[in-house]
Amino acid sequence: MSMIINGAAAEPPVDPRVSLLDFLREHLHLTGTKKGCNQGACGACTVLVDGERILSCLALAVQYTGRSITTIEGLSTDGALHPLQQAFIDHDGFQCGYCTPGQICSAIGMASEAKRGLPSHITADLSAFVTLTREELQERMSGNLCRCGAHNGIIDAIAQTIDAERTGVAEGVA
Ligand code: FES
Repeated sequence: MSMIINGAAAEPPVDPRVSLLDFLREHLHLTGTKKGCNQGACGACTVLVDGERILSCLALAVQYTGRSITTIEGLSTDGALHPLQQAFIDHDGFQCGYCTPGQICSAIGMASEAKRGLPSHITADLSAFVTLTREELQERMSGNLCRCGAHNGIIDAIAQTIDAERTGVAEGVA
């Protein structure tokens, strides 16, 4: 059985010890997904599996046979940037750019979690609709580190995209 990566079928690696991160980068040459710590601490390797964010450095590729994986390379449509990619540019949500693919994939997964009503560590009322305040966004994105210190621009970009989606100005944050 194949895996689906950015809409295309791919055969899983023969060696079951290969991490999903190494499979993407070294086998498929999808180098947009970055290796930072390689131990689950920085978020640079975040990708989406069936719309949920995961750390690909902590996952074995063969675990995801039959699943649909989206990396940063799979977010644009017909050459047009995903609205969140554009928002990162608009808000200076990066400096060196190394953490950016993971930040963007993580934010898309995060928005989906919030839509489904999943609370964060700081959500006060577990019975209420989740409101993505700035503090909620910061908490929910706290697993993605930016060593350049672009966190304010990152949160601005995410907030703008979520607000735009709410008002129907843009689509793309699922
Ligand atoms: Fe996976 Fe840092 S490279 S969390």
